[in-house]
Amino acid sequence: SKKANPAAVMSSPPHLILTQDELKKIAAYKAVEFVESGMVLGLGTGTTAKHAIDRIGELLRQGKLANIIGIPTSTQTHEQASSLGIPLSDLDTHPVLDLAIDGADEVDPDMNLVKGRGGSLLREKMIEGCCKKFVVIVDESKLVAYVGGSGLAMPVEIVPFCWKFTAQKLQSLFEESGCVAKLRVSAENGEPYVTDNGNFIIDLYFKKDIGDLRAAGDAMLRLAGVVEHGMFIDMATTLIVAGEFGVTVRNK
Ligand code: 5RP
Repeated sequence: SKKANPAAVMSSPPHLILTQDELKKIAAYKAVEFVESGMVLGLGTGTTAKHAIDRIGELLRQGKLANIIGIPTSTQTHEQASSLGIPLSDLDTHPVLDLAIDGADEVDPDMNLVKGRGGSLLREKMIEGCCKKFVVIVDESKLVAYVGGSGLAMPVEIVPFCWKFTAQKLQSLFEESGCVAKLRVSAENGEPYVTDNGNFIIDLYFKKDIGDLRAAGDAMLRLAGVVEHGMFIDMATTLIVAGEFGVTVRNK
């Protein structure tokens, strides 16, 4: 049998295997290249967006960026950004944003997203819907063939009042897709997870494609207890994906 030549093995470049968090950081840093001084910026929520916010804070400290105003999409992001000295505002004062940067839980081939596994989908949708440019940053594990295709949760924010009733209605809506609706509970105390807006989250799990996304979204919003769903349809303008073979930037 053929033995490996140790000299050849030693001289070949080491194969770098990056962790998921390192890939997230690469995507985030790439997105921050779109940020210019004077911009009003939507600041996303989650482990990927966190890297982008850290980077913006660093560039401000180094004087490479100036006069940035951040609009945070959660209390968690508000805390991070203010601890980094990023000046903050809100949609009441700045209803039009130049750019938003945020992660996603799923991205389909048309750049439709599932968001909200971090629980901030309502504020994210309000803020990212007001941006001239919305840059989505993901590692390649977030790419799916269709929305719901990861088999993981599609979050829906609902009012706490009679949540079981609303969860049941949501599940029935997608019966044909084998939908299972579950109340999100906090890992810390097993109590219902409460959003920044005082609401609950129902996580929907699908066995099959739900088909027309707009029709599905509209049907959910017609249920009186539903506040917002986690599908971000046709909102992303730029997608940055970091993977084993590099980083790609795609514009819509
Ligand atoms: C929070 C979100 C996040 O963007 C999404 O959950 C991705 O999170 P992460 O970057 O931690 O993978 O929608 O509501």
